Amino acid sequence: MSAQPLAVEAVRVQRLVGLECAGGDQNDVLAGIRRIFRATAARWPSEPEAARAFQDLWLDQYLRHEPELVFAAFGGSEQTPVVVGYLVGCKLNPALSERFVALGYLQNFAAECARFPAHLHVNIDDGFRGRGIGERLIEALCERLRADDVAGVHVVTGRDQRNVGFYTRIGFRELARTPRGQTEVVFLARKLHDPAGPNNPQHNESSHNS
Ligand SMILES: CC(C)(COP(=O)(O)OP(=O)(O)OC[C@H]1O[C@@H](n2cnc3c(N)ncnc32)[C@H](O)[C@@H]1OP(=O)(O)O)[C@@H](O)C(=O)NCCC(=O)NCCS
Repeated sequence: MSAQPLAVEAVRVQRLVGLECAGGDQNDVLAGIRRIFRATAARWPSEPEAARAFQDLWLDQYLRHEPELVFAAFGGSEQTPVVVGYLVGCKLNPALSERFVALGYLQNFAAECARFPAHLHVNIDDGFRGRGIGERLIEALCERLRADDVAGVHVVTGRDQRNVGFYTRIGFRELARTPRGQTEVVFLARKLHDPAGPNNPQHNESSHNS
């Protein structure tokens, strides 16, 4: 069931640390994140074991390994907040990590992953899309990654997905694509730091210019 629509200014974006180990109210937050994850999944495995592995690959492992890069958007009141969107991030290069070995296509993006190592997954409750909440979550992550001196961030998504337009609008640029099943996935990246500084002629390459 979707949360009730709220004025967008009432939605708060917050970084959550150690969500998976916390109890009490945090369990509701975790349940809210998992509800949105499941509702936005393009497919859901019918076997419980496969469903657990699927959720682990795309959500739970981030909560375990990068608890400092978990963000949620809350609607509702101060007393009864409701999760209306979330973002999980990862700083390390996924093409070099055993954790992402199931995603064979990453090897075709190895060079791009080296330049833009961080990545993210963001999902918004369908009653809250198109109101700038996804952008706010991504800006919160980017601010955090910049503070940690991460050079760049990427997402991989389906060539024909509507979200390609969203990422492009907020400063991501397509750098590569590769076949996956019947279609292709695209590697979209955004630079966070320019080690050469603003006087470098390459400075504006894939910078955020919206
Ligand atoms: C993509 C998504 C995270 C963007 O967050 P948002 O808060 O809706 O985004 P904003 O309000 O900042 O920007 C609006 C843009 O989001 C995208 N968007 C809106 N609704 C969407 C939907 N149902 N599916 C995919 N993208 C959508 C569009 O690009 C839209 O711009 P457009 O109307 O000009 O096409 C969010 O819409 C969503 O969760 N979509 C479904 C799941 C998804 O695609 N997640 C990303 C996986 S890589």
